[in-house]
Amino acid sequence: MNIINLFPLTIIKDKIKIDDDEKNLMLNEIRNMKKNSKNISFQTATNAWTGDTQGFEFIHKSKNFEKLFLEIKKRVLEYLKCIEIDDKLIDIYIQRSWATISESNERIKKHRHFQSHISFAYYLKKNKNDANLIIFDENYKNEVMPGIFRSETALQKGIVKKMNQFNVTQAIINVEENDIIIFPSKTIHSTQASKSNDERISISADIIFVAKDSKLLEMGLPPLNEWTKI
Ligand SMILES: [Fe+2]
Repeated sequence: MNIINLFPLTIIKDKIKIDDDEKNLMLNEIRNMKKNSKNISFQTATNAWTGDTQGFEFIHKSKNFEKLFLEIKKRVLEYLKCIEIDDKLIDIYIQRSWATISESNERIKKHRHFQSHISFAYYLKKNKNDANLIIFDENYKNEVMPGIFRSETALQKGIVKKMNQFNVTQAIINVEENDIIIFPSKTIHSTQASKSNDERISISADIIFVAKDSKLLEMGLPPLNEWTKI
């Protein structure tokens, strides 16, 4: 018997090693951002601090992050290679980037990044026990009995014997310090709520692809210099 699995969600995981000195510069800059938060009431008791909601959404423009973003670009090119998008025919833009800080039981709730094409999370500071990343499915292609793979009672009762690679609807991606995870921006994700964090610090960014030449191209964003502000 053959099992044919079709239409995957592809996520890239890689390591980016950074010297301690450089890392400390970035960490201190991020800690200062938190000290200077512009909308601190937005951060509720169990929500992590997220720089994009506090006035710090362009960290890719900071000198201290320059080298890291050069390394990230290499991984973005690898992602494009994987899905057969020709990077010579597109321009790649980082439109937004920010840091997150999670302390104790703070978490990042389920969300997606609506305004971009691919996103990443880079773990600048992460201890073994800090929260990992959770990725959620929303197509449930194998869920022949609607809702059955999302039902705790189905597991309790044993009608679903166990979760496996064919029926899973959410997956934990274990990450370590220096790991980068790249995924389609539209993918729903969160951090683990059950963990206690010891100043877990990650960096995220939203990336957009724009066609260098949109002639005879129906899909994709046309070059920015052809846009007219009205
Ligand atoms: Fe996110």
